[in-house]
Amino acid sequence: MQRIGILTSGGDAPGMNAAIRAAIRTALKNDLEIYGIYDGYKGLVDGAINPLDYKDASEILTRGGTVLGSSRLPEFKDEVVQELAVNQLKRWGIEGLIVIGGDGSYRGAQALNRHGIKTVGIPGTIDNDINGTEKTIGFSTALNTICEAVNKLRDTSYSHHRCFIVEVMGNHCGELALWSAITCGAEVLINQEIGYDEERVLAQLAIHDSFRNKRHALIITAENMLDIQALAKDISAKTSFSGRAISLGHIQRGGSPTPEDRMLGSKMGKAAVEVLMHGEGAKCICQIKDQIVVRDIDEALADTSTKDEDLYDLFNYLV
Ligand code: ADP
Ligand code: F6P
Repeated sequence: MQRIGILTSGGDAPGMNAAIRAAIRTALKNDLEIYGIYDGYKGLVDGAINPLDYKDASEILTRGGTVLGSSRLPEFKDEVVQELAVNQLKRWGIEGLIVIGGDGSYRGAQALNRHGIKTVGIPGTIDNDINGTEKTIGFSTALNTICEAVNKLRDTSYSHHRCFIVEVMGNHCGELALWSAITCGAEVLINQEIGYDEERVLAQLAIHDSFRNKRHALIITAENMLDIQALAKDISAKTSFSGRAISLGHIQRGGSPTPEDRMLGSKMGKAAVEVLMHGEGAKCICQIKDQIVVRDIDEALADTSTKDEDLYDLFNYLV
């Protein structure tokens, strides 16, 4: 393989730039040409493509977001649109493609594979929702951002005998909510795996209020689970806490990546280029037990065993 491409797709994630930097440097040091494709699959279809050089890898390691830009292109599920992308790759002489993104972006990579393009996926999303890998790039930074925000909320909440409901991102996956509930010391966790039942939430709060005499309570919920303002009102009306609710929103997607995300991005960017150098495709880069592993993308996406289910048990001991 002489020429490879790289793109970022779906929601941006801190640490994507570390992966881009590692891919550029690994490719150039192995005499491979590497082309940046801008704004994800949209840029691929439109031909927004440029060669990358050492200078493009400089001053990006510490930056959040993605210097290649990202987008969502729902039409990419359409075979005709996929063929437009394949034609662009052929026109530019790009034989292999690195796709950094979430599980949706991986579906796009699988489609390109079916069209004969060798692709390798790097898991880049704050949601940690990709099967086959224990961690995705961006999850650590988002979790850090949530912890910093909740620490501040706890200060004011304690002073006013309040219960804060904090809504975190995660798309359809409850990982960010679960990990932040444990690391921020939440009294109640609501996510897709646990579900939402207001009576259960109020009963759990009552334990902390009357029996443990707490001045502060924290509910962490995954997004799209409930009307958080309505629950805050009910908490004020039905418990001795006053209820307040906040959705942390896109703040969770920004910021300088943590060392963990920089390391993960760096290792995975290098590994992805090596996969293409060996002429392989239909792969993705995973982290399992702190080791970087190359897996068949279909097999990885079908493997749900990489999620740590013991964390639910841990949470139940901690509340
Ligand atoms: P993420 O990659 O973060 O999960 P999305 O689910 O929004 O984000 O997917 C990103 C992009 O990947 C979509 O906008 C679309 O262009 C592409 N994509 C998603 N699902 C498919 C699919 N089934 N087939 C082809 N492309 C897809
Ligand atoms: O996939 C990352 C993510 O931030 C999800 O957690 C969230 O549901 C979604 O993207 C938000 O998307 P948008 O940037 O389109 O608002």
